[in-house]
Amino acid sequence: MSHHNLEITVHECAAGQCKQRPDENNLGFGQYFTNHMFTMRWNIDKGWYDARIEPYGPFSLTPATLVFHYGQAIFEGMKAYRGTDESIYFFRPKDNFARMTRSAERICMPALQEELALEGLRTLVSLDREWVPRAAGATLYIRPVMIAVEPNVGLRAATDYLFFIIACPVGAYYPEGFRPTKIYVEDKYVRAVPGGVGEAKTAANYAASVLAQKEAKDKGFSEVLWLDGVERRNIEEVGTSNFFLVIDDELITPPLQGSILPGITRDSVLQLARSWGGKVSERLVSIDEVMAAAENGRLQECFGTGTAAVISPIGELTYKGRTVQINKGEAGPMSCRLYDELQAIQFGRQDDPFGWRVIV
Ligand code: COI
Repeated sequence: MSHHNLEITVHECAAGQCKQRPDENNLGFGQYFTNHMFTMRWNIDKGWYDARIEPYGPFSLTPATLVFHYGQAIFEGMKAYRGTDESIYFFRPKDNFARMTRSAERICMPALQEELALEGLRTLVSLDREWVPRAAGATLYIRPVMIAVEPNVGLRAATDYLFFIIACPVGAYYPEGFRPTKIYVEDKYVRAVPGGVGEAKTAANYAASVLAQKEAKDKGFSEVLWLDGVERRNIEEVGTSNFFLVIDDELITPPLQGSILPGITRDSVLQLARSWGGKVSERLVSIDEVMAAAENGRLQECFGTGTAAVISPIGELTYKGRTVQINKGEAGPMSCRLYDELQAIQFGRQDDPFGWRVIV
């Protein structure tokens, strides 16, 4: 099979195999999946082959499959949005697949055939388009994944990979919705170090975060804010989102230096805010600076940005036993404006001056 052919075999599920769609007003996050999935395979001699749409269902993999042992796995998060005129949009989908190729290179997986992945995504969402919700704020969350499937327990790059895309209708990521979350500033565990895999969207980064997240949840927090892995001093990211703050009207987010995820929502927020003309900085910011700014009234807002989380305002930070409230625990004007504007572009309610929207 040619490495450059965009042919996708489509096997639709039989009428009796199709699932009922869930109640759109009670979707939660990540529990219901559409009727189909896209898969393709890669072999060291053949390249990408066997691109197909199939009924959503289990894979059969032997216990020796490499991903089960050494975790060669990467993923992406994207969404499809339904406009009021029933058009369906993706948001910067090429950027997701380009990032996936960068993640792949970091952990010795093959580069994605990005055009084919995009074509697979379009075919899948077109087929399951009824699953793109109509309820306010609800979307179809899309999860592309690549895993090592060669059966072998030697530690090395696999010779065979499986790429798949599944999709699930979702509501807000946090049960709080747009209400501000409480965040625990993590000072015991670290997520990433220079030279590590922090900027790749690998499953390993998320596995590394679960214990800290669980301990924070047990103490009543929604999430942790990670500090840099060497000095535990500079702000990095929240496990599910990039971190932004506003001090003295300056919008600040940490720079991409290899240990944080290069978020597509992060980049969109920077472009939007720059277009509004305020002061916007990508710079190192220490937790001491943040706590001091909060204590002398200069910290105006904190929020997370991500595909799943969108703009997620932060109402409280707790660091080494000190808790500071931000903007009286309310979402601030910058968070609200970014949320409204970004969603208006994503759902097609507003012009798209940056060319981010792609119609399905
Ligand atoms: C996303 O925002 O799409 C992500 O991949 C984060 C994940 C933890 C839900």
